Amino acid sequence: MSDSRAIDQAIRERRSIRVFRPDPVPRQVIEEILDVARWAPSGSNTQPWRVTVLGGEQADTLRRRLEKAASVRTWTEAQMEAMQTRIANGPMAWILECVDEPIWQFLAGGSMRFFDAPVALLVSFPGKRGTSTPAAIPAFVTTLMLAAHARGLGTVWLGWPMGQGEIVREAFQLPEDEQASAFIALGYPDPDAPVNQARSTRYGVDEFCRWIGWD
Ligand SMILES: Cc1cc2nc3c(=O)[nH]c(=O)nc-3n(C[C@H](O)[C@H](O)[C@H](O)COP(=O)(O)O)c2cc1C
Repeated sequence: MSDSRAIDQAIRERRSIRVFRPDPVPRQVIEEILDVARWAPSGSNTQPWRVTVLGGEQADTLRRRLEKAASVRTWTEAQMEAMQTRIANGPMAWILECVDEPIWQFLAGGSMRFFDAPVALLVSFPGKRGTSTPAAIPAFVTTLMLAAHARGLGTVWLGWPMGQGEIVREAFQLPEDEQASAFIALGYPDPDAPVNQARSTRYGVDEFCRWIGWD
């Protein structure tokens, strides 16, 4: 396969993985992925990303702490219904067909457990509290996710755990002069899980692109 076809395929095929196999991910594979991701672009080539890779017992401890801190069991009926309605009417409606537990439980609870992935990565950057995330961070994360996918690994970028900032900081032993920016679950996908098989939708190019200076 030509390089461009292989790259296009990785970009088109990558999807968020929400059911992982328990198999551990060898450290060498993660190092390889990071070695690719570091080629992401950054403003003035500052490469502001810092990465902490959490596995083993430490990952399970964080999972338990996050679940406890943000227990979905404390959600009110109204909150659960609001989420169900939001999902049903949005671009993630497809997911309702793929899970057989209430969607708030699967998404909110699952995100806090980082969907039982064996590895959690935290991407941080040097800066004081309140400093906004450099644009290079999402570029780095996207590159990392594609490199993982190309190696048969699955990822999901998780905003939910970031709501528990202090727990995340502590678990990843983040230095005071660094700020957490992106939380990513990593592991081998369960290929049989319907939620991993469905392709999320995208708007067409005509729907998001304007052309100026073209006939
Ligand atoms: C900044 C960010 C935060 C996200 N947070 C969550 C999350 O907390 N839980 C989750 O299940 N998915 C999360 N996602 C994954 C998105 O839902 C997913 O990327 C989107 O639905 C498109 O699907 P795809 O990645 O399979 O193409 C997040 C994605 C991004 C970029």
